[in-house]
Amino acid sequence: EACHKLVLLRHGESNYTRDNLFCGFGNDADLSDLGEKEAAVAGQRMLEAGLSFDIAFTSVLKRAVKTLYLVQEELDCHWLPVVKTWRLNERHYGALQGLSKTETAKKYGEQQVKIWRRSYDVRPPPLDKDDSRFCGNIAPYRDFDPTIIPVCESLKDTVERMLPAWHDVIAPDVKAGKRVLIVAHGNSLRGLMKYLKQLSDQEIIRLEIPQGLPLVIELDEDLHPVRDYYLASEEDVKVAKTKVGVKDNVN
Ligand code: 3PG
Repeated sequence: EACHKLVLLRHGESNYTRDNLFCGFGNDADLSDLGEKEAAVAGQRMLEAGLSFDIAFTSVLKRAVKTLYLVQEELDCHWLPVVKTWRLNERHYGALQGLSKTETAKKYGEQQVKIWRRSYDVRPPPLDKDDSRFCGNIAPYRDFDPTIIPVCESLKDTVERMLPAWHDVIAPDVKAGKRVLIVAHGNSLRGLMKYLKQLSDQEIIRLEIPQGLPLVIELDEDLHPVRDYYLASEEDVKVAKTKVGVKDNVN
């Protein structure tokens, strides 16, 4: 029986998704103009559904933080406590960061790109720590133990670094009855869905999380999902999944 409700939201379109570039963890891309609109619409959808929150969690990346703020504007809840954690950041795309997804597919083939983008445990090529794209020398990661800054991640790696945030800070709030909103990224949210719904390594390949559509998850007292649904029509979900999906991945 459902007794908790959790809402997940992937940030609106970033300049990188607009331009079809690999973005990931180490790149603090901004929202595009469309992404800002999508974030506001997400807030309106939550308002229409009568949702309100006690606390929100987001990553340390601008595209998620700004999306959350635009949702707060719509819900008129600027007071909402917001916890930002790097553990909710997007998956680290390694040496693919900043490259064009189309050009990379031309060079290595669609199949290899699909493996890099959607397989569970295959890592993209690593980023060299001397590479200017390595983010370990800049805020907010500068003071971190350097061994925890990724240079590339499989989705499995992302899940492993994301789960401590779930277990230590988010899940206890949900269990305590707080109404929790999480605004994060395509792959950090895919990883969370894999964990919550106990999806297999095969099932996760086909799971796409659209940008800007609130996903409501109803959970039982042990935080097992009972039901999940988007605050959007089936058609809107399909169109939005096709936009972010990997070719031949979207039904
Ligand atoms: C990125 O980091 O490029 C996007 O946020 C997600 O990319 P993906 O669809 O390749 O996983």
